[in-house]
Amino acid sequence: MYARISGTGHFLPATRLTNLDLEQRVDTSDQWIRERTGIRERRIADLSESVVSMSVPACQQALEAAGLSAEQLDMIVVATTSAERAFPSAACELQHALGVTNIPAFDVGAACAGFMFAMSIADQYIRNGQAKHILVVGADVLARLCNPNDRNTIVLFGDGAGAMVLSASDEPGVLSTHLHSAGEFASLLGSGHTPSVDDEAWLYMKGSEVFKVAVSKLSELVSETLQHNSMTKADLDWLIPHQANRRIIEATAKKLSMPMERVVMTLEYTGNTSAASVPIALDVAVRDGRVQRGQRLLLEAFGGGFAWGSALVEY
Ligand code: ACO
Repeated sequence: MYARISGTGHFLPATRLTNLDLEQRVDTSDQWIRERTGIRERRIADLSESVVSMSVPACQQALEAAGLSAEQLDMIVVATTSAERAFPSAACELQHALGVTNIPAFDVGAACAGFMFAMSIADQYIRNGQAKHILVVGADVLARLCNPNDRNTIVLFGDGAGAMVLSASDEPGVLSTHLHSAGEFASLLGSGHTPSVDDEAWLYMKGSEVFKVAVSKLSELVSETLQHNSMTKADLDWLIPHQANRRIIEATAKKLSMPMERVVMTLEYTGNTSAASVPIALDVAVRDGRVQRGQRLLLEAFGGGFAWGSALVEY
């Protein structure tokens, strides 16, 4: 039994924040941001928007693409670290908003890598026959957790939501998932649950140190994923990476000898949307026809914790 991706969807808030807008707010430049990160603009949730409100349209799209109604779901897993409240979970609120009752719904917290953890959990439930259809969501409003005066963070993050339905199938789907965590790096990247006047509650990041660990761990991760499946770089059709920084993505693509035309990039107009970034990138490439049925995809993400993970998928 496999968990197959039966549908995907995503949502980005309407409000655009460009590099030129940021030049007016802090000591930065469009050129610095583009050269160091690859980002030109990001979308920002307004105060009426939230992890849950952004997730609803993303999930409706994913369900529609899968040809399913919400009542057919057996479970909802939401990867987020920026929900409005600690509890009820974003997943319970989302369950209610989608009009479903009585199925397990819960949040998973692994910062930018959260979607890989949520997808791995869903894969286990489907593989062992306990669920047929699981809605897996990644949604975050990390731009809201950044100190508006901190040029180190506000240039990087945007808001958004991505969704995927995994369905039981005899045909290959998710081939394997791989997860790692390393709590000893907590001082390099983290955040309070909600921002406050207390500086320590804002998102903090020692960018260049995070960068080095991310490049090295992602390199090990993609090798581990291929080796586990007795595959080589040539067996992959697409890399769908977490959209944190173009230079990190280029390093991973180089490790896989993949030309950048085989790498899905959205960060130029989304920035880093944290747990939403992988499912948004996947949905964009599915909808524009780049990703086709039968192709092999490598999904990966790295983030706060540190936590990092991958999934090798036959789409
Ligand atoms: N505009 C202009 N200058 C800036 C800015 C800015 N926005 N931010 C920093 N600088 C300056 C620094 O002060 C420094 O100046 P100095 O040389 O005079 O000291 C210089 O630019 C270089 O700074 P670095 O931090 O060394 O720049 P780097 O090339 O490492 O790029 C960046 C910074 C983009 C943050 C990069 O390190 C990065 O992408 N890191 C990884 C981020 C990531 O992957 N996070 C994980 C996911 S996030 C999550 O899990 C929530």
